Amino acid sequence: MKVFIDSADLDEIKQAYEWGIADGVTTNPSLMKKAVDKRKNINLKQYLNQILETAKGTPVSLEVTETSAKGMITQGKKLYKLFNPIANNVYIKIPVNPAFKDSDKTHFAGIEAIKALTKANIPVNCTLIFTPEQALLAAKAGAAFVSPFAGRIDDFIQTNNKIKFNKTDYFPMEGKEKGKVTLNDNGIVSGIDLVAQCVEILEGYKTEVLAASLRNTRQVREAALVGADISTLPFSVIKDMLKHSKTYQGMKNFTKDIVTDYVKLTK
Ligand code: E4P
Repeated sequence: MKVFIDSADLDEIKQAYEWGIADGVTTNPSLMKKAVDKRKNINLKQYLNQILETAKGTPVSLEVTETSAKGMITQGKKLYKLFNPIANNVYIKIPVNPAFKDSDKTHFAGIEAIKALTKANIPVNCTLIFTPEQALLAAKAGAAFVSPFAGRIDDFIQTNNKIKFNKTDYFPMEGKEKGKVTLNDNGIVSGIDLVAQCVEILEGYKTEVLAASLRNTRQVREAALVGADISTLPFSVIKDMLKHSKTYQGMKNFTKDIVTDYVKLTK
């Protein structure tokens, strides 16, 4: 499974690439706001160029902010024209359905935009996927990546069932039971179940499943185990992946036992 960093923070992105563990970058409007708010007098064009150069050779997703098909297609093409020449690694992020409510008329605008951008040879990362059937339509329209939002489905199931939780809590991939019923959102029992169903349904498609909205290290492991092609991870989760109390204890014990003559051999 490839590991992307889910961040628009250049320092975090640089660090992840220096460590040699990043295979790509995903951004979204909220991550962009967080990075911009943290910095004073930012030249956004130069800043994004630096992100693209840091990630050279690996995909960087830049999300559209328009919500009509025409708007997303025009903006997607402009973003691509503006930024892809920097390092030839831009993917345009398109919401699977940019409508705000059922009665809106724009439900297929995302699909239209995916189709048009793909036809123009612009790779698309389709975002805000909460059902395998959304992923299926995005793949059929030509999306290079589909991004199921694991953590947010876990939040949704818990909120709907009045369960208190912290954003980074582990939610079991097999779901939680209440009475004799496994809690679910229309047959999806957890975020990792959503990822697994997307993986199964898209077998035979060239679209890659990018597990997004992962909030803890166990979810990363499970995303890999159910066959996600990619996981995009906040910097904090990447850092947590190396931690274990027995590793610390082992280090203390080994350090205590060091034979001085052995160390002298390399001095
Ligand atoms: C990535 O593409 C998504 O935008 C991101 O993973 C969302 O994560 P969140 O649900 O923790 O905000």
